Amino acid sequence: MPSKKGTQFYCSECGYESSKWFGQCPACKAWNTAVEAPETKAASVHGVVSRQSASRLTHHPVRITEVRRDESERKTTGIGELDRVLGGGIVKGSLVLVGGDPGIGKSTLLLQMCRNLAENGENVLYVSGEESLQQIRMRAERLGAFSDRLSLFCETNLSDIREAIEETKPAVVIIDSIQTMYCEEVTSAPGSIAQVREATGILMQLAKGLDTSVFVVGHVTKEGVVAGPRMLEHMVDTVLYFEGDRSAAYRILRSVKNRFGSTNEIGVFEMEEDGLQEVANPSEYMLSGRSETASGNVVVCLAEGTRPMLVEVQALVCDSNFGLPRRTASGADYNRVNLLMAVMEKRARIHLGGQDAYVNVAGGLKAAEPGLDLGIVTAIASSYANKVADPDTVVFGEVGLSGEVRAVAMPQQRVNEAAKLGFKRVIMPAVSVRKVKAPEGIRLIGVKNISQAVGEI
Ligand code: TYD
Ligand code: MG
Repeated sequence: MPSKKGTQFYCSECGYESSKWFGQCPACKAWNTAVEAPETKAASVHGVVSRQSASRLTHHPVRITEVRRDESERKTTGIGELDRVLGGGIVKGSLVLVGGDPGIGKSTLLLQMCRNLAENGENVLYVSGEESLQQIRMRAERLGAFSDRLSLFCETNLSDIREAIEETKPAVVIIDSIQTMYCEEVTSAPGSIAQVREATGILMQLAKGLDTSVFVVGHVTKEGVVAGPRMLEHMVDTVLYFEGDRSAAYRILRSVKNRFGSTNEIGVFEMEEDGLQEVANPSEYMLSGRSETASGNVVVCLAEGTRPMLVEVQALVCDSNFGLPRRTASGADYNRVNLLMAVMEKRARIHLGGQDAYVNVAGGLKAAEPGLDLGIVTAIASSYANKVADPDTVVFGEVGLSGEVRAVAMPQQRVNEAAKLGFKRVIMPAVSVRKVKAPEGIRLIGVKNISQAVGEI
């Protein structure tokens, strides 16, 4: 197919853009996925409307000190953990993306939020393109009583949704899910990159124009991205992702982008019969069921956002039967585990070259925090030596390439959290020890390098 002037092609799988038609997508290697997407209306939708006379400005630049800051603009969702990841509540006119695997609880959480908001007297509109009114009603019945300030709308055509929003002017709108929505102006199928981009653009305009807060549900594809190349993330104000194993009861909601709050804040939930319940003490929850008599298990204190949290790191090291040792990491970064094992080999003379190693962060949390390093190192060392690590000890610290243990953020909070859960010793970076006031009943052990840490554990 020859390329016409002004025509763009998209890969319907990954969203790769090209001005030429392609049989196989150069990016994701899928065949026959090229779809034509004329970019005709896009310019006006994104608000780049050319003005007839440039002189008549409706807005003027203002001094930063003249801008009023109104904290009461934040609405509470009635769910403490959700408020936390949002940075203290819902911001007026914000666009929030809630992503996660299908069935993880996105619709449930948002419906619970709608119930609380409606109870507080806010008008809320829940737009579903996935479920029928009856199905939503059935789900709602499991969650409890609902106020009639919550309206449901089963629709996928965005111009109708736009009209409904403009007419009823709700304070909060839920769009479940963005992949089912379509604009008539765009020719490609719902869920395609062109459609999702257009739909998000329209919702953004609505949110900013009417001061309505919009929550958009986005399904994550197998590759772990929302509708193609993370395009949605750039357009919205806040991105929240659900983590955790669908088969396990807990769910972790993480903020990965937030224009109105800190990122990497997490909320912990448990899926129960009557919806998602907040977990008040995540450390206790993460450590429940831990084995204190097996080698290779070490408790680490992580700092997720502004919250310290204890998790158990498990390592299993055994002789490799094949030439190339197997290594796996779940919940921790695979490359980081390999790097730490190389550091142990070189700097602590622990011979891991011919060993298989499996590392797991119990609890399903995807930990990407430098404080985890020392936990991985000590867990691997414990399993390698087949010696049980002291069950009353917590570790944290970053490990550098020369085997040194480096300081990490929030040492005081981490130590306090360990004390709160009844631990007796903390192995931590030596430089941080004098900055920390030890709570009663806990002993702080500063270590300078990994050999010291392994000796102490
Ligand atoms: P759902 O919110 O529909 O997931 P998503 O919108 O992310 O696709 O979650 C559905 C799952 O949650 C389903 O497996 C049933 C379970 N569930 C409960 O365990 N308890 C409940 O009260 C509800 C409403 C759902
Ligand atoms: Mg759903």
